[in-house]
Amino acid sequence: MSALTLPVARDLADWRRLRPRHGTLGFVPTMGALHAGHLSLVRRALDENDACVVSIFVNPTQFDDPGDLAAYPKTFDDDCAMLAELGTPLVLAPTADVLYADGYNVRVSEHADAAELEGRHRPGHFDGMLTVVLKLLNIAGAHRAYFGEKDFQQLRLVRTMVEALFHPTRIVGCPTVREHDGLAMSSRNRYLSPDERRAARALPASLAAAQREIDAGTTDADLIAAAARRVLDEARGVEPDYAAVVDPDTFSPLTRLDRPAVLCVAARVGPTRLLDNVVLIPT
Ligand code: PAJ
Repeated sequence: MSALTLPVARDLADWRRLRPRHGTLGFVPTMGALHAGHLSLVRRALDENDACVVSIFVNPTQFDDPGDLAAYPKTFDDDCAMLAELGTPLVLAPTADVLYADGYNVRVSEHADAAELEGRHRPGHFDGMLTVVLKLLNIAGAHRAYFGEKDFQQLRLVRTMVEALFHPTRIVGCPTVREHDGLAMSSRNRYLSPDERRAARALPASLAAAQREIDAGTTDADLIAAAARRVLDEARGVEPDYAAVVDPDTFSPLTRLDRPAVLCVAARVGPTRLLDNVVLIPT
């Protein structure tokens, strides 16, 4: 099927026409600029459901920096071509007018974990993300929705929202897909110059350094985070924002690695902000 013939819904009336009437539906929300990480979610949704819908919407309310929003890659035709190769996913690509007819006066906020980590560095980001995800979940009416573990805090907050608001869609977390050298795939990687691309290896290297610290017997969470932070600090062209060992459910910082935890790192490489994380298992 060619990109041109892939079924695309631009508004709710289109979606009512396209929406499958029978069987289970899987939903993959995205902001486009699709890569193999996104496609792994779509494959999983196609495997586990009778049909799959992928949304492509660059959500303005989750960008705290207007320059970042303007520069965000928009590659709709290429995205549809990649999706068409996987089978016949449906595409939901509503306009901002459709999604924000209320002028963003109605919003969803989480008032505990959303203030941590990414929330500290990107004011308003999680309100915008949760609000658009709830709108999209309501429109799609899917049985399951697929999110990447790469955006660990996002996945956690979506689960919290769905449980708190009794949303019937089941949230499925999917493992991070990486480049050959370990860099987590991201739509933002395409901004990196060749030098920056090399420098970005510091993120997965910082996660590996933390794991080595654990393998050497360290259980002090500050020392484990410091091992990761050192790799980021020492990498030329990398400006770390944080390296934090947190409880995967509550996001509170851990002092001792006496249960599974997650190490989250964020850093700027040139002007591009990148995230990564790994689950740490105590030895
Ligand atoms: P976007 O960055 O396009 O990501 C869409 C989905 O793909 C998210 O669930 C994200 O975690 C997942 N993803 C991205 N890179 C991945 C990788 N390397 N491996 C596995 N999964 C990966 O996240 C958003 O869009 C938006 O915030 C959205 C949820 C669509 C709301 O606007």
